[in-house]
Amino acid sequence: MNTLLTPLAGRRILLGVTGGVAAYKAADLLRRLKEAGAEVRVVMTTHATAFVAPLTFQALSGEPVRDGLLDPAHEAAMGHIELARWPDLILVAPATANCMAKVAQGLADDLLSTLLLATDRPVAMAPAMNRLMWANPATRANVETLLARGIQLLGPGSGDQACGETGEGRMLEPVQIRDAVIERLTTPGPLQGCRAVVSAGPTREPIDPVRFIGNRSSGKQGFAVAAALKALGAEVTLVAGPVSLPTPAGVKRVDVETTAQMLEAARTAVAGAQLFVSVAAVADYHVADVAPRKIKKHDASLPLVLNRNPDILSTLRAEFPALFMVGFAAETDDLETHARGKLERKGLQMIAANQVGDGRAFEVDRNALQVFWPGGSATLDEGPKADVARALAALIADRYRNP
Ligand code: CTP
Repeated sequence: MNTLLTPLAGRRILLGVTGGVAAYKAADLLRRLKEAGAEVRVVMTTHATAFVAPLTFQALSGEPVRDGLLDPAHEAAMGHIELARWPDLILVAPATANCMAKVAQGLADDLLSTLLLATDRPVAMAPAMNRLMWANPATRANVETLLARGIQLLGPGSGDQACGETGEGRMLEPVQIRDAVIERLTTPGPLQGCRAVVSAGPTREPIDPVRFIGNRSSGKQGFAVAAALKALGAEVTLVAGPVSLPTPAGVKRVDVETTAQMLEAARTAVAGAQLFVSVAAVADYHVADVAPRKIKKHDASLPLVLNRNPDILSTLRAEFPALFMVGFAAETDDLETHARGKLERKGLQMIAANQVGDGRAFEVDRNALQVFWPGGSATLDEGPKADVARALAALIADRYRNP
C-alpha cells in the first residue's frame, strides 16, 4: 500500500451532505476522499437530495446512501448509533447555516443531526451559505459554540456566491477540504500521548443546605482550553465546577462542587498525567461551620467564619514534582508582578494572566491573556475564548515539548 498516494487508506469518513447549492461539489469531494484511500459512507439530509440525487453518491461511494432516520432496512444493516461510532471523522460538507444551528442547539430531528449528537468521533464542517447568513449574529454565536465544543470548521472561503453576491460564505474547494482532512487524520498532534487535566469553572462553598459562596466564573475559558488540548492530541480529563456547559467531544468530565472536591478529583486525575492546567476560579475560603439546616433570619447580622482552603496547585506541586503545571491569574492591577509572583510561589511552568474588573473576562465570551514563564512571555490578543484557548494550547504544547 502506497501511503503517499493513499494517505487516507484504512480511514473511515462519514460524509454528511446538507441542502445547499454546494452539495454538487460534495460529489467531487467524495471522489477525492476515495482517491486518497478513505472508506466513505454518505448521509444526506432531505433538502440535500433536492440538489443532488442520492444515486450519485451511492455510485461514487459504492455504499448505500442514507437519508432517513428510521428506515427499517438500513437500521437492520447498521443502526444509527452504530453508524455514529463507525467513522474516524464525520465531515459535513456543505454545512448549511441551518445544520450548524441545529448542531449548536443539539437538535436531532433527522439522521444527520442525530448522528452528530450521538457521536464521540471528531467532527469537521465546511460551511456554505450566503455572506449575510454567515455574518448574521445568530450564525456567529453558533460558530463560537461549535468551536468551543471542539468541532473543526474548514473555511468558508470568500468569493462569488451562487446567489450572485460576493463575500464570505463559499464552501472551500473539494481538494482544499480533502487536504485538511488528510492533515487532520494523519498528523499526530504535538500532544499525542500526553495526558492532560484541566480544571474549569467556579467552586461553591456551602453556607447551609440551600446557600453557598460562589464566584462569577462561567467555565467557558476552561472548557475551551480542554477542547483545544484535545484537538492537539492530548487525552483530556476536565474537572468541572458547577456550570451548565456541554462537555467538549472526546473529553472525560468529572463534576465537582467545592474546592476540597476539586482538589480530590484533580489529585486522582493527575496521577499518570503529564500536564495540569488550572483554569478554575477556586474559592480560597470555605465556611467554617456549615449549618445542617436552612439558616432563618432571626438576627440583624450574620457573621460567617471562613477558613482557608488548600491551594490546589501548590498541593499538587508538592505531590507531583514532574507535572507540567499551568496556572491562571485573574488580576485587577499590576498584572505581570502578581502573575510572576504566583508562577514562582506555586512552582508553575507557565501562568496565563488576564485583567479582570470592568466587565472583562468573567461571564463574557471574549478574553485576552498575558502568558508568562520563567524567562519569557507572550501576549494572546483579544478574541473569542475558543481562539484564545487554541493559541494558549499551542503555546503550552510548545513549552511542554521544548522546556
Ligand atoms: N488556585 C488553586 N487553589 C486555590 C486557589 C487558586 O489551585 N485554592 C489556582 C487557580 O486555579 C489559578 C491560580 O491558582 O490557576 C491562581 O488563582 P488566583 O485566584 O488568581 O490566585 P490566588 O492564589 O488565589 O491568589 P489571590 O486570590 O490572592 O490573588
